[in-house]
Amino acid sequence: MKALTKTLQLVALTLMVALGAFYAANTTGLLYAQAKQQEGGKIKCPRCGFMNPPKNPDGTVNTDCDKCGYSIVAFAADKGPSKIDAKTLATYSPQMRATYNLFRNKCSKCHTLARPLNTDLVPTKWEEYVKRMMKKPGSGIKPNEAKQIWEFLVYDTVKRKKSLFDKMPDKEKKIALKVVERVENQQVN
Ligand code: HEC
Repeated sequence: MKALTKTLQLVALTLMVALGAFYAANTTGLLYAQAKQQEGGKIKCPRCGFMNPPKNPDGTVNTDCDKCGYSIVAFAADKGPSKIDAKTLATYSPQMRATYNLFRNKCSKCHTLARPLNTDLVPTKWEEYVKRMMKKPGSGIKPNEAKQIWEFLVYDTVKRKKSLFDKMPDKEKKIALKVVERVENQQVN
């Protein structure tokens, strides 16, 4: 009986370690893609089903479906909520509530909204990311829309991610507060 308990304990421990390693390896999409690449397997697009080669012709990891542009990598952020709760949203300025709809429309085309909503970035990084998304083929995002979405993401960071805001370098805080001031005084268009 004692030996059996020992064996069971060992099995449970092994399972826990294996699960932990699996979870860690899946927390970034790139790791997932890299694992696929090592297998030499193709990556199936979740939207159009196209079987993508794991690598681009230049040898980098393939992250965007070759056929429809959908994201073929998973990110930890994808597992979080894919909307802002109504109570929080009710505290946003009318202009920002309108821009939230633009954001929902434009940033859910190639992955769910969970990805941007659960990604923590400072304002200058958001600028980089939004521009990168805009430049993807078929993004359907115009420069003036990108700017509004950037403002929304910065405003949302200040409102909803207070601890991240508090930790930002002063330079980033200044940019963020300027955005908040500007959009709170804006009329809804
Ligand atoms: C045309 C398709 C497309 C559109 C539209 C799009 N994305 Fe993406 N996005 C991707 C793909 C593909 C990836 C994964 C590869 C990458 O990071 O470039 C990604 C990744 C991301 C990431 C994670 C990047 C990282 O390295 O952590 C964020 C955040 C993000 N997108 C935000 C946005 C926002 C905000 C918008 C709207 C302005 C947007 N996306 C619109 C295709 C798109």
